[in-house]
Amino acid sequence: MADQSFDVVVIGGGPGGYVCAIKAAQLGLKTACVEKDATLGGTCVNVGCIPSKALLQSSHLFEEAGHGLAQHGIKVAAPGLDLAAMLARKDKVVQQSTAGIDFLFKKNKVTRIQGTGRIVKAGEVEVTAADGAKSKVTAKHIVIATGSEVTPLPNVAIDEKKIVSSTGALALPQVPKSMVVVGAGVIGLELGSVWRRLGAEVTVIEFLDRILPGMDGEVAKQMQRTLTRQGMKFRLSAKVTGAKSGASGVALSVEPVNGGAAEEVKADIVLVAIGRRPYTNGLGLKEAGIAIDNRGRVVTDGHFATSVSGIWAIGDVIEGPMLAHKSEHEGVACAELIAGQKPVVNHDVIPGVVYTWPEVAAVGRTEEELKAAGIAYKAGKFPFSANGRARANADAEGFVKVLADARTDRLLGAHVVGPMAGELIHEFAMGMVFGASSEDIGRICHAHPTLAEAVKEASLMVTGRQVNL
Ligand code: NAI
Repeated sequence: MADQSFDVVVIGGGPGGYVCAIKAAQLGLKTACVEKDATLGGTCVNVGCIPSKALLQSSHLFEEAGHGLAQHGIKVAAPGLDLAAMLARKDKVVQQSTAGIDFLFKKNKVTRIQGTGRIVKAGEVEVTAADGAKSKVTAKHIVIATGSEVTPLPNVAIDEKKIVSSTGALALPQVPKSMVVVGAGVIGLELGSVWRRLGAEVTVIEFLDRILPGMDGEVAKQMQRTLTRQGMKFRLSAKVTGAKSGASGVALSVEPVNGGAAEEVKADIVLVAIGRRPYTNGLGLKEAGIAIDNRGRVVTDGHFATSVSGIWAIGDVIEGPMLAHKSEHEGVACAELIAGQKPVVNHDVIPGVVYTWPEVAAVGRTEEELKAAGIAYKAGKFPFSANGRARANADAEGFVKVLADARTDRLLGAHVVGPMAGELIHEFAMGMVFGASSEDIGRICHAHPTLAEAVKEASLMVTGRQVNL
């Protein structure tokens, strides 16, 4: 490949990188995106958000067909599972999504360079193609968008067959009889739900004394109850210290965190989901003088500029939640900054969603965070069991919880466990961006009967104005 020069070269074609590249090109900058994998879209599109949501939807329908229809007066025989077809559908969804990004690159005239990028110095990236051929790409601006990788668990070697990461858990050729999930975070609960619904006995082993760390405590308690009722087992305050993989499965040694004897726990499949860490292997950060922090994250000035002028960083590789939409948002803002605009990224209003059933969604502060910060707040909490639409849908588990400043009533946070929580949360996100009070949301006329009325009622409850509870 001949040497090439650009205004912007983005390293990484995930949701942060590809969006940044498209936006930069739309703003008139000559842009390239370097991606090592054969397809664009990164972890999210290839082995993360998109395939997991495909399997969550398919497995939810399987469970509904098996257990959810009788209450509606619909009689069906027990459903059969064609796992190969389910996985093939998932692969097709991924393929459609990656092809969509190819189309967008062509439409927006982004040059795609396939290979692994290494920053030589400001203005210069070396790309090594799969066949080892090297080429030089020069650019006024380099954007690091290399994302994250699975955090390994000491003494538990991932082989993607019996001991899998989220990647292997999206492609198991058969439903395991038993599965142990290490880590009760987002990946563990989502993919644990998929395989439980398809018939596996799922046990989640979590280091902390609670699930879903970082989320509101009440929400985590409710979800643990709900998932337990669905058949998922939890062992909290326990750590996995080793694994032996054999023909009959995996034997894990599990120890109580607070001391006590180690115990052996056996499973056909073990899913390691203890978090992700920034991916910067071979990127040449050190040699290029780019500062990283003690967690391996690229240090920025809060506006995506790294310690080296002309080199920027966005997404999982920098501070903040490792979420595709956060990366996308930063990608757009970074391109706009490079183009001389003055974008604003409101890092206080980044929603998070767990796509279990019911879903969990959150934006802003948790009750625990407000207490720790000494901020006086008022709370409103409305159960879906009091919402007509949720009852009509036979899907009335969970609640909407609103936290607002005790003095000004300004929205500080919102937490939803329930049907369509991941959609409902955006009403609060919008309110928070516009500096709304809980009363503002409560006084919006919401269509009846909708799940969104629970958003309205919970907001009204903050100031004692609720009607339907
Ligand atoms: P996580 O950080 O959400 O959860 C990891 C869990 O593992 C924590 O509860 C932690 O306490 C526990 N843990 C850590 N070490 C352990 C050990 N040795 N033994 C037992 N438990 C241990 O990480 P997860 O679920 O792997 O997800 C990785 C990233 O991907 C997160 O940043 C997450 O936000 C993101 N993601 C987001 C999704 C979404 O937005 N729906 C879906 C999937 C992933």
